[in-house]
Amino acid sequence: MKKVNKIVSEELFEWIRDIRRTIHQWPELGFKEEKTAEFISRTLKKLGIKHKTGIAQTGIVGKLITDEKAPTIALRADIDALPITEETGLPFASQNPGIMHACGHDGHTAIVLGAARLLKEDPPEGNVVFIFQPAEETDGGAKPMIEEGVLEGVDMIFGGHIERDNYAGMIGIKSGVHTAFTDAFEIKVIGKGGHAARPHETVDAVLLASQIVINLQTIISRDIDPVHPAVLTVGYIRSGTVYNAIADRAVLRGTIRTTDETVRELIIDKTRKMCASLAILHDAEIKFNNKPGYPPIINDEVSLEYAKYVAEKLIGKGNTVSLPHPSLGGEDFAYYLMKVPGCFVRFGAAKDGHEKIASHSPKFDFDEDVLRVGAAYLSELVRYSIKKLRKQ
Ligand code: NI
Repeated sequence: MKKVNKIVSEELFEWIRDIRRTIHQWPELGFKEEKTAEFISRTLKKLGIKHKTGIAQTGIVGKLITDEKAPTIALRADIDALPITEETGLPFASQNPGIMHACGHDGHTAIVLGAARLLKEDPPEGNVVFIFQPAEETDGGAKPMIEEGVLEGVDMIFGGHIERDNYAGMIGIKSGVHTAFTDAFEIKVIGKGGHAARPHETVDAVLLASQIVINLQTIISRDIDPVHPAVLTVGYIRSGTVYNAIADRAVLRGTIRTTDETVRELIIDKTRKMCASLAILHDAEIKFNNKPGYPPIINDEVSLEYAKYVAEKLIGKGNTVSLPHPSLGGEDFAYYLMKVPGCFVRFGAAKDGHEKIASHSPKFDFDEDVLRVGAAYLSELVRYSIKKLRKQ
């Protein structure tokens, strides 16, 4: 698998790797990526690529125009980090306490800058838009960037995410639905507090919260057709102040992940009904509030064909993996695909000894060889897509 070192020159690889390490050292949270944006802007300037800063607060869009009438392909990288304290022990570990690039967005940014350099040095027969988007991990920078017009004139868009299921030099491609709807909910239980020894005088919020957690799992196991992926996780629960009192209030927070709109609606509806009926049964007040998140990524079939062809050519058929299942993670790349056709891929980047360390872990790291593969791949994908679209 390690036959990727000739994909780009060693000099270029080191250039991309240094970019990744610099960004890694100065991670910033969503819509606060000021230093990161400055660094990207400086790098684009050095490359001689015209760009605009301050789009959707901290976003940047670079443009390489060779022929106004020719097709335009966009490449997107997300640039934000997470509120996690890094524990990798890397020499270039985070210098911002409590913030870490634990999802590989430092790598995504470096990859797209690498592709930008390759395309600038040997321009394609069309135009390229480089999108550096803030806040993928939080409220989503994609939507405001689209609203500010970053997709104007774009015919097709590509992006990717680093992942640990495959090694560097492998690319995963998923036909159709690739990621999930990411709803976030909150349930507030308002009961009646009292003495721990006199439960009959109270409405126990802890007991109700516990019932809610169990009942929610029965929605997944009993109401959903098992052939449809669905996850409901209660990740937060808070109630009570002392061991010998019955709590009057509880708060639960969680997320619903689905890939099908009907299944999503069914779970939300059942959750609402369950809360309402438990409230009647126990003389409590239970408020359910759902906040819709990102829609799923649905890869366009033509773009996917291009993505697959270029991967097979660059790294071989054996290293181009057709992903069998969608991920129940979320990705706001989905919003771009609601406007223009495109494809989102997975860049294999498993690091020896780190295979079991998930993204969003304080120990997360990836194999930097992915940077060569990603940059070469995205630049070739741009060239190929322009050629194909020119013929249409
Ligand atoms: Ni991510």
